[in-house]
Amino acid sequence: MIIEENGIIHRKAVYPGTFDPCTYGHLDIIRRAAKQFDTVVVGVLRNSAKTPLFSTEERVNILKVVTEDIPNVEIRSFDGLSVNFVKECGAQVIIRGLRAITDFEYELQMAQTNRVMAPDIDTMFLITRLEYAYLSSTTVREVAAYGEDVEKFVPQYAAKLMKEKLHV
Ligand code: COA
Repeated sequence: MIIEENGIIHRKAVYPGTFDPCTYGHLDIIRRAAKQFDTVVVGVLRNSAKTPLFSTEERVNILKVVTEDIPNVEIRSFDGLSVNFVKECGAQVIIRGLRAITDFEYELQMAQTNRVMAPDIDTMFLITRLEYAYLSSTTVREVAAYGEDVEKFVPQYAAKLMKEKLHV
């Protein structure tokens, strides 16, 4: 939350992730968060422990294209700790999606660690819609690698780029 000079409260949140690529599950979380906050910054992690299929610039580009109809969403890349990026953005909330109980332990650990590092930053969890609860970028990449259509899982633009990238 940022209180602007004229006393207007601006609620800003950051949704960090790898987004390799952005799936319909991610997009659903972005849309729902954008209804709750004045601005949602989607933070694309640069130095992930994962080896991404898409470069940071490509992941940012995909997110920009698929969120262009949501005016209060900004797409940025970041390095290092999420909490530092959240501070840099002037936000106080981290958004994360929870798909299943299996996500919970990892997310809880991350949220608690982040809270110790930055007590003023809260993590808010949005429960992933049932129809996307099974989705993961890893499984989508695997399906695409076998030449199968992934348009049911990721926006059309991402599906097209996956085809090109994987030469399928
Ligand atoms: N619907 C469907 N799928 C979803 C989803 C949703 N709502 N939300 C997440 N997913 C899937 C993704 O597709 C992805 O699948 P994959 O692992 O098979 O690729 C997985 O869940 C998680 O992806 P994503 O949401 O992109 O996040 P992440 O776990 O890759 O990113 C960070 C985690 C970036 C938040 C975390 O690593 C981080 O903050 N890193 C910076 C360093 C730091 O601050 N660490 C914390 C200190 S403890």
